[in-house]
Amino acid sequence: MTPNRPRVGVLFGGRSGEHKVSLVSGRSVLDAINRERWDVVPMGIAPDGQWIVGEGAWEFLSQQADDTTAARVALGGSPGAGFVVLSGQAKGEFLASVDCILPVTHGTYGEDGALQGLLEMADVPYVGAGVVGSAVCMDKAIFKAVCAHAGLPLLPWLLVRRHELQAGTEACCDRIEQSLHYPVFVKPANLGSSVGISRAASRDELAGALLEAARWDRRIVVEQGLEGPREVEVAVLGNEHPQASLAGEIVPDREFYDFDAKYAGSDSKLLIPSPLSEEEHAHIRQMAVLGYLATDCAGLARVDFLGDPQTGAWWLNEINTLPGFTSISMYPKLWDATGVPYTDLIDRLIELALERFADTRSNETVAEKGPVSA
Ligand SMILES: Nc1ncnc2c1ncn2[C@@H]1O[C@H](COP(=O)(O)OP(=O)(O)O)[C@@H](O)[C@H]1O
Ligand SMILES: [Mg+2]
Repeated sequence: MTPNRPRVGVLFGGRSGEHKVSLVSGRSVLDAINRERWDVVPMGIAPDGQWIVGEGAWEFLSQQADDTTAARVALGGSPGAGFVVLSGQAKGEFLASVDCILPVTHGTYGEDGALQGLLEMADVPYVGAGVVGSAVCMDKAIFKAVCAHAGLPLLPWLLVRRHELQAGTEACCDRIEQSLHYPVFVKPANLGSSVGISRAASRDELAGALLEAARWDRRIVVEQGLEGPREVEVAVLGNEHPQASLAGEIVPDREFYDFDAKYAGSDSKLLIPSPLSEEEHAHIRQMAVLGYLATDCAGLARVDFLGDPQTGAWWLNEINTLPGFTSISMYPKLWDATGVPYTDLIDRLIELALERFADTRSNETVAEKGPVSA
């Protein structure tokens, strides 16, 4: 082993509906990461938000072993403070901080800017988009506003607020029917993994879909639905000069790529590369990079498109800043097909995180010098 390897915390789990998916991504990274180069520290966040650090953290969270070596810790918000141990014999002691965190935490708190804000406060470099990029890509309504401003093609859509729905579902349905036609897709603004999303093909279904989405979020996006859309995804990697992978295509085995199709096992197929024409391929890769830059992504993101099979038009659907990251997930598979194997991809992501941290550090932060005078 190389002496003085940088310490890298691989962070998985988290307080989101994608906790278990994140554990699978975490296991893959722990198995594949180059331990000759990085001193790896497993780090988990339990469903209740408690942090656990050390060997055994993954086994503990996945309930495959008792907690023997991992400690319950709190990350201090002061730069350089490291982790305070909250349980066991070392209670009250400090664990050294890490040189970089590689989060594979999907969804709420892990991918939406909350974790990123905490790590910024603590001065810990981390893989992936910063606070703004993460938050913009997590919120489907803000995301669309930013991408529309950048001139990227989006399906027509409307924002509905829960309080508006509570005041009268009929008036909401009227407003939607004035600008969109059935089918429409109804989505909570701030979730992922197809949770709370429904397709509505009639006014009755629309009312039900709005109420379902309102269980999950205060803000609801209603979007023009496509019949049997093509779903194409591009993996983007980089900071200031991001590169796009080959595009891959998902062929769902049902009406839409819902939670079960994603995780409960299905006959959905991944086509890598997607059978797009050369021109379409180039166009989509270019749009992926433009979307990535417009939303201030960094490190990595998977950029997803919907295609209308009738007209051949392509629309930007969403950007996932911490996409599924098992060795057989779309993001790593796309890079593998583009010539970057999984272990090298992990190396590159950590390098990008360190580069971005150094770049941010070069910013001036103190505008006024000298003592404060009242
Ligand atoms: N406008 C649309 N028309 C047709 N299908 C859609 C539309 N929007 C979403 N879908 C389907 O629903 C799935 C989930 O929607 P998406 O916006 O990707 O949300 P999530 O963040 O949950 O992945 C998509 O993968 C696609 O199968
Ligand atoms: Mg999606």
